[in-house]
Amino acid sequence: MQVEQLPPIVTTLSDLEHPYMKGAWTPMYGEVNASRLAVIEGKIPTDIDGIYVRNTEIPVHDPIGRYHPFDGDGMLHLISFRNGQADYRNRFVRTRGFEAEQEAGRSLWGGLMAPPGASLRPGWGAHEGLKDSSSTDVVVHAGKVVSTFYQCGEAYLLDPDTLENQGLAGWAPIDGVSAHTKVDESTGEMLFFNYSKHAPYMHYGVVDQHGKLVHYVPVPVPGPRLPHDMAFTRNYAILNDLPLHWDLEALKGGFHATRMHDRASRFGIIPRRGNGQDIRWFEAAPTYILHFLNAYEEGDEVVMDGYFQENPEPGPMRDAPRGFAHLMGFLDQHMTRPKLHRWRFNLKTGTTTEQHLDERVLEFGMYNQRYAGLPYRYAYSAVATPGWFLFDGFVKHDLVSGQSWSLQLAEGRYASEAPFVPRIDAKDEDDGYLVSFIIDENTQTSECVLIDCKRFEAGPVVRIALPHKISSGTHSCWADRRFVRDGMLPPP
Ligand SMILES: [Fe+2]
Repeated sequence: MQVEQLPPIVTTLSDLEHPYMKGAWTPMYGEVNASRLAVIEGKIPTDIDGIYVRNTEIPVHDPIGRYHPFDGDGMLHLISFRNGQADYRNRFVRTRGFEAEQEAGRSLWGGLMAPPGASLRPGWGAHEGLKDSSSTDVVVHAGKVVSTFYQCGEAYLLDPDTLENQGLAGWAPIDGVSAHTKVDESTGEMLFFNYSKHAPYMHYGVVDQHGKLVHYVPVPVPGPRLPHDMAFTRNYAILNDLPLHWDLEALKGGFHATRMHDRASRFGIIPRRGNGQDIRWFEAAPTYILHFLNAYEEGDEVVMDGYFQENPEPGPMRDAPRGFAHLMGFLDQHMTRPKLHRWRFNLKTGTTTEQHLDERVLEFGMYNQRYAGLPYRYAYSAVATPGWFLFDGFVKHDLVSGQSWSLQLAEGRYASEAPFVPRIDAKDEDDGYLVSFIIDENTQTSECVLIDCKRFEAGPVVRIALPHKISSGTHSCWADRRFVRDGMLPPP
């Protein structure tokens, strides 16, 4: 393995007495290029060709007010597979906020938990007072890596080979872009939404395979909302208006507090190039949903899978370190209890039917992206570590037979969100691997693993050493090199 270390960034963080600045969430700052990574065990498959990119959240300076792990600056980790070899590099996303704080040598913006008016400069996004840290999500679209922030912000572009920062996406509208832009590999389109505190409160848009904004419409909802994700089928986009959102009374006082409101969940189904008046709203059981899986059309119905939170307002966590009980409660999936769930929206009758597909606490679902928007059979979920925003296992579901397979990591080993990597000449939907970065707290190292989805419970087929221990984070993606190059791929 050859490792090239980049010049260090400015960091002034001095106080690590925060539960999300320890263990697998310990911040790291080194930026490196590493080639020909060493294999710890197994063999790197020669039948995959593409990149796995993960976004993580790094606190760089002492916070203004309380730190929330989602405030951290975006750092992308990229591993590239080709011809049975793997190369790695990582970079901070050079956002406008990151650059300004590098120059100032201190924090200039308060975070999610900071009091009103804490930021020293005007902020971004739905919250209006935050730094757009571009640290939530990452996709590959129109030949670029696209990094986004869940409170809405700019879309930052990076080179998919070098991770060189290439500035802002020109297509991003004034109200910004939420995390969870959706890439349809078969058309090359990217669907997105944003949300804000001013009417119409939500928008939906489409960017074509060349990176041009080709559709952007308001999605009127009755007030400020906090959608986190969206879904799509071949013909429709599915937006949501869920009963967990900002408390309007608190908001008048400048405080950003969320609460459940006593009403149904609403899902808005819009033709992919439709306008506000084309949206059809469907009611469903009240919940909050962080993430959806796939959606597709079947007869008169639109079928959508996702994770239904049984307890969207978890309250304080018992035994949390003093002052962190609420933060840790919201971040503990064993308290919010998301369950794999299927909604069916009947376009003829306007009715919704829904049910859990599994009773286990699962989230951060992935599936073969070739089947995005189409009927599909296999879903892969991450298993959360009780008490923490960390993953220590995976479950594969056969959604047709109801069968499932699980893989638990050893104690002290934590995974990242694990997308599906199709083999180059895949014969069917689950012919490929899950790819994940592992943080090993026992050895204070990190590695990348590939799990053969046809032999799911057999464990990784390869373990590849990373040049440094990485920090935990949220989202990731896989992109075939052919998709990076051509901007679209033929459907299966
Ligand atoms: Fe997310």
